Amino acid sequence: MSNIGSYEQRLKDFDWSISEKELGYKKGDNINIGWYCTDRICQMGNGDKLALIHQDHLGNVRNFTYNDIRQLSNTFAAFFVKLGLKPGERICIFMDRVPELYISFMGILKTGAIAQPLFSAFGDESLFTRLDNAKTSAILTQKKHLPKVRKILATLPELRHIIVIDAGDASLKEREISFDMEKEPRVDKFDVYPSTAETPSVLHYTSGTTGQPKGAQHVHYSLIGQYLTAKWVLDLQPDDIYWCNADPGWVTGTSYGIIGPWANGITQAVLDAGFNAEHWYAFIQKHKITVWYSAPTAIRLLMKEGIDLVRKFDLSSLRHLCSVGEPLNAEAVLWSKEAFGLMFHDTFWQTETGAIMITNFPGMPIKPGSMGKPFPGITATVVDPRNFEPVNNPGTVGLIAFRPGWPSMMRSYWNNPEVYKNKFKNGWYLSGDRASIDADGYFWFVGRDDDVINTGGHLVGPFEIESALLEHPAVAESAAIGKPDPVNMEVVKAFVALKPGYQPSDDLELEIMNFIRKKLSPLAMPQEIEFVKSLPKTRSGKIMRRLLRAQEWGEPIGDISTLEND
Ligand code: WT7
Repeated sequence: MSNIGSYEQRLKDFDWSISEKELGYKKGDNINIGWYCTDRICQMGNGDKLALIHQDHLGNVRNFTYNDIRQLSNTFAAFFVKLGLKPGERICIFMDRVPELYISFMGILKTGAIAQPLFSAFGDESLFTRLDNAKTSAILTQKKHLPKVRKILATLPELRHIIVIDAGDASLKEREISFDMEKEPRVDKFDVYPSTAETPSVLHYTSGTTGQPKGAQHVHYSLIGQYLTAKWVLDLQPDDIYWCNADPGWVTGTSYGIIGPWANGITQAVLDAGFNAEHWYAFIQKHKITVWYSAPTAIRLLMKEGIDLVRKFDLSSLRHLCSVGEPLNAEAVLWSKEAFGLMFHDTFWQTETGAIMITNFPGMPIKPGSMGKPFPGITATVVDPRNFEPVNNPGTVGLIAFRPGWPSMMRSYWNNPEVYKNKFKNGWYLSGDRASIDADGYFWFVGRDDDVINTGGHLVGPFEIESALLEHPAVAESAAIGKPDPVNMEVVKAFVALKPGYQPSDDLELEIMNFIRKKLSPLAMPQEIEFVKSLPKTRSGKIMRRLLRAQEWGEPIGDISTLEND
């Protein structure tokens, strides 16, 4: 039996106080995520339970119990206080997925400071933009990333401390200080900062369509949403071994790669290594992963490797699979059913929403290709882009909109109240995405608000085209964008990466065009197919159509600091 039970029943009875009660929180109480995810679990008698199973890229495994992460996060916290870091100051985490990343995150929150996680793969320019915008006071990093920090230090006067977690004998320079978590005397008792609901907690940078990245600012009360969504959507249960393969530089890696599982007292496994299908399956087999939170691009990469590889491993421990970040095409859902005997459950949300908003719940009939239904307590709809009124017509495409006020919603964009204000229209928060809702209340993603292709007055969803392209045997990855056209305003152009064993040719181009024409419509048929080796993706695996589109339209490319294969 899943945690959520009957969706209909949960909808009827729902109130966020369900989550508050389970966490023992009452309005006006102190609420500190760092305390909830460590001390509280220990107080409930689970101090000896494994909190973190960590495997590095060489295959070395280290285990940490809840008591370990409680004491080690205290140790970090005490150190931050000693350095003079104050509540509200921003402390950046700029590390690979080492245990210190997860543990220092808790330590920062325990002091009342704001955690600012950034991908360690960022170059110095991307790093600078975000540290400069947040006026960050301290950065935690590894020796290997130090050169990038040193390069920009002169232009960051507010950055007082560069904390190196693995300095060893390396000689440190101005503002740099060594802190080795394992060598420090452990701090058993730390006075956790008495944060309340609206105290800032996490600052997550996200790239918009235009301009510089914006910092979505979250608060400690977000826990109420993250705890319950992790429990009901990821279906976390006491004996689970949970794996979220997202990097905490991305909100999935914090909301559901740290806070959600630990607030639930669950054992989570972390693999600090890039994508490799064989290693991933071996990881699942070795640690007997039961719940896995992944993303469509990763799933499609696994698909590319084929089912024979899956069969070489014992993956029978898997019980529940979820996905987030981009449209999960029906083909990937059906493939996972064949490969693992389980369907990936799509979840939709954003950096700004802080927690899952629309999803396929465990136990609910999945319509492959649909994102599912709103989480109880979330009022979601699609609105007409002209007047921002809900579109009450099944199948009609509109803008995804949420009624503001859910617990984990961002409270502002850092230093950018104007852009924040612009996210709200007619009493709705606009996600910037398009979707339709069918007669059964299921949401169907169409595309980003700015990605939908308008050809001859007909709206065509790139997701639809890409899904269809993926069904062609030669296609490994694809992206569809609108290309300027003097008659139709836009026509569809597709970028396609082929599977091994296929070569680009005019014949293949024609064949794929016809395949789409037949599968969808003449309007949706690409007028041009460009064969590429790979597609530009963000570090979180999202295909950057925006980049392809800008190239096509001869426009400036904008911020590409999250680009993966640059
Ligand atoms: C955007 C948010 C919260 C972690 C995800 C990344 C797209 C997200 C889905 C999905 C189709 C999705 C949307 C959204 N997106 N999930 N299940 N189906 N699109 O957070 O980097 O802030 O990106 O990702 O366009 O607005 P993010």
